[in-house]
Amino acid sequence: MFLSIQFTVLALQLVNVFAVALNPYDSLAGLTRDEVDAFARSVKVVGAQPVPPPIEDTSMKLVNDAAHPWMPLLPGQQRGPCPGLNTLASHGWLPRSGVATPAQIVTAVQNGLNMEYRRALEVTYAAFLVNGNPLTNLLSIGGLSRLTGSAPPTPALASGLSTHGTFEGDASMTRSDAALGDNHSFNETLFQQIVDISNKVGGGKYNASAAAEVRFQRFQDSVMRNPGFFFSTPRFDTAFIETVFPIVFFVDGRSTDASLDLHVMRDFFQNSRMPPDFHRRGTPSSGSGPEEDMVMNAHDYVPGFNNGSGTCVFLPPPASSSHLVAVNSFVADPNFMGTQTDVLCSLYEKFVNTTRELYPSPQGDLRVALNKNLDNFFIPVSSRCAQIFPFP
Ligand code: HEM
Ligand SMILES: *[C@@H]1O[C@H](CO)[C@@H](O)[C@H](O)[C@H]1NC(C)=O
Ligand SMILES: *[C@@H]1O[C@H](CO)[C@@H](O)[C@H](O)[C@H]1NC(C)=O
Ligand SMILES: *[C@@H]1O[C@H](CO)[C@@H](O)[C@H](O)[C@H]1NC(C)=O
Ligand SMILES: *[C@@H]1O[C@H](CO)[C@@H](O)[C@H](O)[C@H]1NC(C)=O
Ligand SMILES: *[C@@H]1O[C@H](CO)[C@@H](O)[C@H](O)[C@H]1NC(C)=O
Repeated sequence: MFLSIQFTVLALQLVNVFAVALNPYDSLAGLTRDEVDAFARSVKVVGAQPVPPPIEDTSMKLVNDAAHPWMPLLPGQQRGPCPGLNTLASHGWLPRSGVATPAQIVTAVQNGLNMEYRRALEVTYAAFLVNGNPLTNLLSIGGLSRLTGSAPPTPALASGLSTHGTFEGDASMTRSDAALGDNHSFNETLFQQIVDISNKVGGGKYNASAAAEVRFQRFQDSVMRNPGFFFSTPRFDTAFIETVFPIVFFVDGRSTDASLDLHVMRDFFQNSRMPPDFHRRGTPSSGSGPEEDMVMNAHDYVPGFNNGSGTCVFLPPPASSSHLVAVNSFVADPNFMGTQTDVLCSLYEKFVNTTRELYPSPQGDLRVALNKNLDNFFIPVSSRCAQIFPFP
């Protein structure tokens, strides 16, 4: 037992060392036997696992602690469009490689930021189904990485959270639309817009009033400039709550103020770094609540897209087809709820549909893993929605 633990620790250390040295797409040729073995262990087919239990201690506590120091990014480590997960990885609450199992993500967002268990399951398994590798049970929180192992055959993606169109979408706060620029890196111009708005309506801090105006400005900008702008399910649902996540999860748990210092906000968004002595909030939160309602109701929104882009699910139309689409042509999406009447269930249905599109006829281990993760994804919505079985 003791020996096997020692061995596992050694193997993990090798994998970590290896993860740092390896670039995506690198050939395995020329590597030592140990390195190849470490890689093989890191990508072995494990399939789906049961969801982890909720964490027990959900009290406020120091999370930028001695065991979780911030460390700068090393080559090969993945970061992506989500400042929450980026930060957890850069503090070692997630593997610093940025490649993790869904269970590690579910547990890390609870431990590190006190996200509510059910919301953690919902978001994580949605993302895992469309962007993760079901065979190795690994997801990159950034772009394609060979550490997640060989992807199942196309149209499966298994290419990480930076993949545009399945989860990552348009009109993000600090990341460009994929059709207009870099879809996953921090963008200084966009952050300055947040600073300006926060100075105007937040008294120099990022609060729900600022979130509401940031959301609207980013929406309008995409309508006006992005011919492929897509703002229906799932993006219509995620775009609002993401603007309040910083207020809910990045404000120190000891503060009673529902507003975020802009320097602290920048460090989370740009550097994936918690402030010194950062304490997580004192109660679990889903992020939903009066702030999200305020952001949604501050302006008139309908789910939709710039006319022409609605048929293109995974990628914005190439420039050559730009005659088919137009900027400033926003039309409502009549199908945004799918067959559902409850918004949460339509979101669930959408991710199940996308999974079916990515895996038209999965067989064997792949089918077993997908079905298990679909069951996992259903757990947090089971009290409200009927389960859908795309691969009966
Ligand atoms: C539970 C697992 C999570 C997953 C799988 C996840 C995934 C993602 C993805 C794919 C995006 C990109 C969406 C887009 O803007 O196009 C995103 C954005 C974002 N996430 Fe997460 N996230 C998770 C948890 C969290 C947590 C705990 C926070 C806490 C603050 C957070 C904060 C944010 C914010 C603020 C954005 C918007 C960034 C921007 O628009 O510039 N996320 N997340
Ligand atoms: C979004 O970013 C990822 C990661 O760099 C990249 O692979 C992908 O091509 C980008 N998507 C689009 C549509 O530009
Ligand atoms: C950053 O955002 C600005 C404003 O939308 C845009 O003009 C610029 O191209 C973006 N930069 C990158 C690298 O995407
Ligand atoms: C945001 O801050 C400003 C300035 O202090 C304040 O007027 C506004 O009411 C705040 N918004 C919310 C929702 O608290
Ligand atoms: C979308 O554009 C097409 C072609 O220009 C046009 O025929 C159609 O009416 C537009 N749809 C909507 C809902 O405006
Ligand atoms: C999911 O797919 C079904 C069957 O194709 C379709 O009727 C439904 O509208 C889709 N749901 C969403 C939310 O796109």
